[in-house]
Amino acid sequence: MSAMPETIKFILNNELREVSHLPPTTTILQYLRMQERLTGTKEGCAEGDCGACTVIVGELAGDEVSYQAVNACIVFLPTLDGRHLVTVEHLKMNPVQKEMVTCHGSQCGFCTPGFVMSLSALMHNKSNATDEDIQDAIAGNLCRCTGYRPILDAARAANKSPERYLVSDIKKLKAIQRTKMFRYEAEGKFFSPRTVEELADTLTQYPQATLLAGGTDVGLWVTKQHRTLETIIYTGNVAALRQINKTAAGLEIGGAVSYTDAFDSLASYDESLEELLRRFASTQIRNLGTIGGNIANGSPIGDGMPPLIVLGAKIVLRSKAGARTLPLEDYFIAYQKQDKKPGEFVEKIIVPPKSDHVLFKTYKISKRFDQDISAVCGAFALTMKGNVIADTRIAFGGMAATPKRAAAAEKSLNGKAWNEATVRQAMAALGGDFKPLTDMRASAAYRGNVAANLLYRFYLETTEPQTATGVYSYGKG
Ligand SMILES: Cc1cc2nc3c(=O)[nH]c(=O)nc-3n(C[C@H](O)[C@H](O)[C@H](O)COP(=O)(O)OP(=O)(O)OC[C@H]3O[C@@H](n4cnc5c(N)ncnc54)[C@H](O)[C@@H]3O)c2cc1C
Ligand code: FES
Ligand code: FES
Repeated sequence: MSAMPETIKFILNNELREVSHLPPTTTILQYLRMQERLTGTKEGCAEGDCGACTVIVGELAGDEVSYQAVNACIVFLPTLDGRHLVTVEHLKMNPVQKEMVTCHGSQCGFCTPGFVMSLSALMHNKSNATDEDIQDAIAGNLCRCTGYRPILDAARAANKSPERYLVSDIKKLKAIQRTKMFRYEAEGKFFSPRTVEELADTLTQYPQATLLAGGTDVGLWVTKQHRTLETIIYTGNVAALRQINKTAAGLEIGGAVSYTDAFDSLASYDESLEELLRRFASTQIRNLGTIGGNIANGSPIGDGMPPLIVLGAKIVLRSKAGARTLPLEDYFIAYQKQDKKPGEFVEKIIVPPKSDHVLFKTYKISKRFDQDISAVCGAFALTMKGNVIADTRIAFGGMAATPKRAAAAEKSLNGKAWNEATVRQAMAALGGDFKPLTDMRASAAYRGNVAANLLYRFYLETTEPQTATGVYSYGKG
């Protein structure tokens, strides 16, 4: 480990930048607008919601560069070290830009750079994008003027062009790669370890440090709550934490794997999980937000938790003292209280292979389809022996102070046949499992009704359609 703080080195569009004077919590957006005067990248919300600040970040992967759209407003500058930052100024009238003009996809223009960046990233990564791909790519971009139709027209028209969108200077990028831990200091410390051991050591040395992964929570502590973070330890360059491995134990997903990277492997469990993942925030946030961050923030409405819990996921926590493994549900003790010892971090989760005898579904209920936080998120897994339920796992987010299993409903189903009568008993039992809150997302009564009806929906979707009758009203049996 070098003892001397270093400069942040990255490629901005075509040029090398070295930064040594800005606090580590300076966002990419602040840097671009205030230091570089590259004002094409806009600030709308400063919390990852509107997409006006979308930039593209490239990361070297062998001899290729992998490019992803991210929200510049919540990403801290030192995380760019060794990477390629592409802003709207760098694009030279690519097909998306041309078609935005032709199709009248821009009116006041404030959102336009963000849309252009999101669509350019999509079209760079995928030729012949489907309508669903296009809508997905811009679900995190808001426009108050156009009504979106002309933007979709522009995207569809640009999609027909075979042009390559982003050009990388691999040589320049290779020249700024590090082999050792990166440490930066300017009104705050920033460490970017490369191995699990370095991460554990640094966390032991700085027990009060903030662990930073995608920053989709931590970034907002700074931009919205104006918190000062004196020492930050970044997990985004710890190679082992970014791996996904298939082993005999199941799918092992490193704590710093982003939702985008985990998408394919997780989505293969069931199409309902694929839909849930697609509705998790936006493309930009999924490119940043990690599985480890979603677990470690302990949120009662973290969308990953209910499905992972019912799939029997285990969490591996590591510190300098070694590693321990526990069922994911046991990690959540109470509101904002997790079973985490000093110096521990989420190394990985292990999701057992799905058995053919398991019926599984997961559902997210939120006010908007895209880019919204769940009012209720439910997941259900039944291990069947013929038509008899050998084991039940039901978990909800948004129904309690933590993501939580429904013990009474599970008990009422175990050993029974999977039919209308037993599902109704389990729906009634759910009333004893949860006392949900009323808040801005939903009332307690709504949450209770939705939870029970999601269980019923699960029943409908896993049995013959003609066996089902009506919906359920909470508290009325
Ligand atoms: C616009 C927007 C939309 C969102 N929509 C959704 C949504 O639909 N569903 C949803 O569930 N969430 C949503 N979120 C929340 C957020 O994206 C997720 O919780 C995300 O998974 C957090 O991961 P991260 O890597 O960004 O964590 P960070 O912000 O980097 O960290 C979050 C917390 O976890 C800790 N941490 C990070 N990594 C580790 C580790 N390996 N070990 C121990 N502690 C660690 C950090 O110290 C911090 O306390 C949204 C956020 C935004 C800004
Ligand atoms: S400014 Fe709104 S997402 Fe960044
Ligand atoms: S063109 Fe005005 S906000 Fe989109």
